[in-house]
Amino acid sequence: MKRWMAAGILCIAVQVGWSQSVNQDAAKLALMPLPKSVAMGQGELALDGHFHAGFPGSPDAKPDARLDAALNRFLVRLDRECGGIRRAQHEAKDSDPLTLTLQVAGPGEAVQGLDEDESYKLTVTPSGATLSAATDVGAMHGLETILQLVRIGASGCSLPAVTIDDAPRFAWRGLQLDVVRHFEPVSVIERTLDGMAVAKLNVFHWHLSDDQGFRAESKKFPRLTEVASKGQFYTQDEMRHVVAYARARGIRVMPEFDIPGHSSSWVLAYPEIGDGRTLARLPDEYVEPVVELDPTNEKTYKFLDMFVGEMSAIFPDAWFHIGGDEVEGKGWKTNPKIQQFMQKKGFKTNDELQAYFNQRLLPILKKHGKRMVGWDEVLNPALPKDIMVQSWRGEESLSAGAAQGYAGILSAPYYLDGQKTSETMFLADPIPADTKLTPEQQKLILGGEICMWAEQIDSGTIDSRIWPRSMAVAERFWSPQSDRDATDMYRRLRIASLELESVGLMHITGPGRLRRNLAGSSDTKALDTLAAVIEPVSFGEREDHQHTDAYTSLNRLVDAVVADPPARQEIAAEVDAVTDGRSKATGAALRSRFENWQQAAPELLALTGQSSRLSDAGPRVQQLAALAALGLESLAYLDAHSIPPAGWLDKQKVVLKDAAQPSAYVRFVCLPALEKLAEAAAK
Ligand code: ACM
Repeated sequence: MKRWMAAGILCIAVQVGWSQSVNQDAAKLALMPLPKSVAMGQGELALDGHFHAGFPGSPDAKPDARLDAALNRFLVRLDRECGGIRRAQHEAKDSDPLTLTLQVAGPGEAVQGLDEDESYKLTVTPSGATLSAATDVGAMHGLETILQLVRIGASGCSLPAVTIDDAPRFAWRGLQLDVVRHFEPVSVIERTLDGMAVAKLNVFHWHLSDDQGFRAESKKFPRLTEVASKGQFYTQDEMRHVVAYARARGIRVMPEFDIPGHSSSWVLAYPEIGDGRTLARLPDEYVEPVVELDPTNEKTYKFLDMFVGEMSAIFPDAWFHIGGDEVEGKGWKTNPKIQQFMQKKGFKTNDELQAYFNQRLLPILKKHGKRMVGWDEVLNPALPKDIMVQSWRGEESLSAGAAQGYAGILSAPYYLDGQKTSETMFLADPIPADTKLTPEQQKLILGGEICMWAEQIDSGTIDSRIWPRSMAVAERFWSPQSDRDATDMYRRLRIASLELESVGLMHITGPGRLRRNLAGSSDTKALDTLAAVIEPVSFGEREDHQHTDAYTSLNRLVDAVVADPPARQEIAAEVDAVTDGRSKATGAALRSRFENWQQAAPELLALTGQSSRLSDAGPRVQQLAALAALGLESLAYLDAHSIPPAGWLDKQKVVLKDAAQPSAYVRFVCLPALEKLAEAAAK
């Protein structure tokens, strides 16, 4: 029995005497994020030509426009899955019985906040389904859950009989997106929001300014985008559109304007608020020198007051992110006026000057109805307790903040460009079971945010960097703390990934398209064979060898592969089964994998010789062939129950060590499993 079922379902199942097969049904569901409680019933509800969804009450009882639009999107998706749904809905008479009854008490908050009621209850019986929720937002989450319950069989679509009682564990479940280092068109933002809605994420944190550009149109300060965007920015209408698009999906939009560091774009446009150093152009690479705002200059605060006022009219969310990270303060140290100011105030460190800056910023945000969020560098006892800290340098700052009375959200474990596995991110908990925080302090931890920085992505690769791994983190933010079964998480993730694709995300087609482009052919079997067992190295490892900027072509092998590909787990499981002596069939599957690697190698070598874009992948291909030999020899020794000659294992270790060397910004995902296999063969 799955752990998540153990508490609720088992006891209900025992009470009502359900059979074993009913519980197996629950285990086969592919809900993601896992609901708070799920109890299977008997039978199923057909979704057929009699389908009729609606709202109870008088025949002309109408939902509000947001819910109506959400129901229409739901019908389109259900129709795509099952067929005949929209026609049935169109032809249904008001007096016809409802297949799906929506009971929604009201629209919810005019500006969605932390106390929005996002809960819903879903009951499906063979005679009908009822979705009830206090708000549109809860109802929209419930509609996503229904879509995940749909089964298609030979006789058509159905929903299993089930009772689901669901509500999120954390109120703040975000995705942060940097649109500065690489700009993303509105269409990408829209489909990202569509994916977030599937994942029940509810905060889109939009990182709109940084050293490399300014992406938000200001009519008060037009030079920000005239000088510092290279024409790549969002107009105010586009930003309003994104806010509305997100709200239609129960998602808040929190803008981030990063100050007083990461501020070269502001200063290039308006040098009078800068630290005194001049810039001739935007620093394209993020490793280049940058300039910062001058916290000692009254003009800076007048500027920010007008700017925050202007942006507040576009972004209604109560929270406003001021960045605050990585303030080097080099210009503060070399500017005599700033140094004099610090002396007068008795500030010995840049941190004290930054805390002063944040203290000056607070009343400006308050005046415009905003609360401050900053990266964990803003944590300073000089600041009042109503700010919020986003922890990115480590999990410790989150609990340190909470212990001092500051609200916080966790991001450190959820940096997508770290290229960590879904499992690693899924298991990182904003409030782990062994937390030292008191229950009162734990209440200050509002949730977390996934972070997608954009130095190494563009609009062709962004989807495959965000999805499907973000779904695993979304589950961490939504589902009970006790949900820690990574094997079952992966089972459901594979299915959720297809759902994400069906709402328009290109995380599957994007890498495939790039591989077709790399191969110059629609036949990418050989390249796919290699791609299946490699993944991008972490941000830092790539950065050590390649400083990307807006002009770096992201069209190499590393851009055409994904983190944590399924083969990592599959090979590990197959090796486990073989070395435990459990399965002959998995031995055959492994052998066939290794033979595929061997067969792909000559074609891959030819490809790497033909294309400059693949030239650095040559060593990886040779390593793939060597790993195939290691695998096949290991299996042969295991099959024959014979011991390899002296020195064989040492030779295999050299092969593994060679394959672990950095090259082409990618790494193999199967080396620990292959080491285990070789060691088992040598025993
Ligand atoms: C950050 O990653 N500099 C917040």
